[in-house]
Parts: sequence; C-alpha cells; structure tokens
Amino acid sequence: MLVLGLESSCDETAAALVKGRVVLAEVVRSQLDLHRVYGGVVPEIASRAHLEAVEAMVRETLDQAGAGLSSVGGLAVTQGPGLVGALLVALGFAKGLSMSLGLPLAGVNHVQAHALAPFLSRAGEDEPREPGFPLVALVVSGGHTSLFLASGPLGFRTLGRTLDDAAGEAFDKSAKLMGLGYPGGRLVEELAVSGDPGAFRMPRPLWGKGLDFSFSGLKTQVQTVYRQYGMDSEPAGSQALRDLAASFQSAVVDVLVHKLELAAVAHGVRDVVIAGGVAANGELRAKALGRFSGLGLGLCLPRPSWCADNGAMIAHLGGIQLAHGLNILDLGAEARPRWPV
Ligand code: KG4
Ligand code: ZN
Repeated sequence: MLVLGLESSCDETAAALVKGRVVLAEVVRSQLDLHRVYGGVVPEIASRAHLEAVEAMVRETLDQAGAGLSSVGGLAVTQGPGLVGALLVALGFAKGLSMSLGLPLAGVNHVQAHALAPFLSRAGEDEPREPGFPLVALVVSGGHTSLFLASGPLGFRTLGRTLDDAAGEAFDKSAKLMGLGYPGGRLVEELAVSGDPGAFRMPRPLWGKGLDFSFSGLKTQVQTVYRQYGMDSEPAGSQALRDLAASFQSAVVDVLVHKLELAAVAHGVRDVVIAGGVAANGELRAKALGRFSGLGLGLCLPRPSWCADNGAMIAHLGGIQLAHGLNILDLGAEARPRWPV
C-alpha cells in the first residue's frame, strides 16, 4: 500500500510517498533561513511557513513519484511531539485529505519514527537490513535525547532520557556561546574536525550512573572555558575555538556512546540504532561504529538526510500503524505537543 506521510512538527515541512520500507518520493522544505536571524525556531513564523508550504510539498511528492492521489492507500501525519501551532498545520491538512479521499489517517509519534529511519531505503537501491528486534535505540535531536528498548516497530519502552537539555540543544547552545551561528551542530562539527579533543577538560555527566542524560553542565563548562581563555577576542575559527569545539563534541559523543552501550548490554540486544538530527554527526557515527563493531553489535544508522526531520519516516511508521489499526485518527484528533513514546 502506498502511504503519504506529512511532517510539520518543528522547522521542516515535509511529505513522502512510501511503500513498506521503500521511499518512492519525498520533499523537505527547511525553514532555517527564516529562523537563523533569531538564533532559534520562532513558533509563529514556523506555523505560517508550514501553512504556505504544505500543499506544495504534497503536490511535489506526488509529481516526483508520477502518482496521483487516487493511488494513495493510506495517510500518516506527525501528531506529536513538537510545536503545537506547527503540528496543527500538517494535521489539519491530513485530516482534510482523509475526509475528502475517504482514506485512513495514522497519527505518528515523531520520536518513534526517527528511531526506525535506519531501515528505510530508496526505490531502486539495495534495501538496508531488516531491524533485528529487540533492539536499543538512541534518538538524539534538537528536542529529544532518549534511549528506548524496542521489541518491535510498535513496541517501544523508554529506558532513559535527558534530565535537562537535549544533545542537539547542547550543540546549539554551545555554538551560540562560542559565537557560531544557528543551528550549531554542524558548525561545531566543522570546527572540531581540526581541533584537539583533549585540549580542554570537559565533564562526562552521569557517566556510569544509569541511562538518563544531562547536558546543561557541559554547556556551562564551554562558557567558562570560552571566557577564561578570552576567546571572544580571538578571530573566528581560531585554534583555541577549534579545540574547544572538539573537546565539547568529544564529551557529548562519549556520553551518548557509553549510555547506548550500557543499555545494549543490560538488555542483551544484538542491534543498536542511533537516529535523529545529531546522528548526522561524523564523530558520533565513527566512534559508535568503532565501539559497537568491537562488541559484535550491529549499528544501524540512517543516511544523513534521514537523520533530520523528514516525511519518509512518518509515512513508514504510519504504514505499520495502518496495518495494525493503531492510533487511526478521526476528525476530532488533537495535536500532542508533549507525547512520551
Ligand atoms: O531531528 P532534528 O532535525 O530536529 C528535531 O527533531 O529536533 O534535529 C536537529 C538537531 C539540531 O539541534 C542540530 O544542531 C543537530 O540536530 N544537528 C547536529 C548535526 N546536524 C544537526 N548535531 C551535531 N552534529 C551534526 N552534524
Ligand atoms: Zn526530529
């Protein structure tokens, strides 16, 4: 069955047409240029931009696939978590499609959808391997840092979460403190490539202490070092800044890989997933690959474009929900800005 998926939970408007795990067509429109000057996502601006884009995203996706709405067998939309005004745009549009076409609509949890993104493939390409359930998944994005035990695509249990900032948020806030732009993840990574990760001492918060995370102290340490070494008077891209970026990134990556390993060992799984925006980070991917292949665990990573928000992951999980009749929405369904998995 062809499933049309829609996503508008934060600052990307996206649509995709998916059959099972195969993505036939997808379009993502990022709003980054609108939000960058504010140093973060402005909810009101996000909602308006979603409204302007959503219909075009659906049309472009169908055009790309050379398909009409009549070939779509089911609909999926991000119901939460996310910015409520942003969520309502795709949700309202999807309800309209559902009513007019008489198609079932699945309400998808965005974070859970991220966790299954490694198992997507594009039409005409080799399929990635099947998920080996049970598995442990780490979802690391701008809004979330959570560890899950998944017994199947619909059987998720939360093992740990951040007690304060999400990992992506820590990247973004630290980048801001270092005078870099927004969003900070990729900018920090670019600087860190030529920095010394051992140059500055950074804490590894909650190391060995359960499966929850805490990143706000790291951000404070970045601020302390930045001030102590007078980096605000250094030229952009100075070696000291590169060293600070590398030291910070290394601490975040160490903690993420460590907690994922603790969870995987505790639950005796054979496959682990890292997904979400921060999973695009090259240092995280490389360190995790080194560590988990040494332990004989299968590491499943989405391709970088499916680490960020997209409609394909929504259509994929939505398709599974439609097949099981799980969380099929009626016209009264509401957005769920806070929706624990
Ligand atoms: O999943 P995502 O696109 O949106 C949310 O659901 O939050 O994640 C965005 C987050 C941002 O905080 C961004 O700074 C971070 O992912 N990010 C990265 C990288 N690329 C994006 N963090 C570290 N390294 C990267 N290469
Ligand atoms: Zn996301």
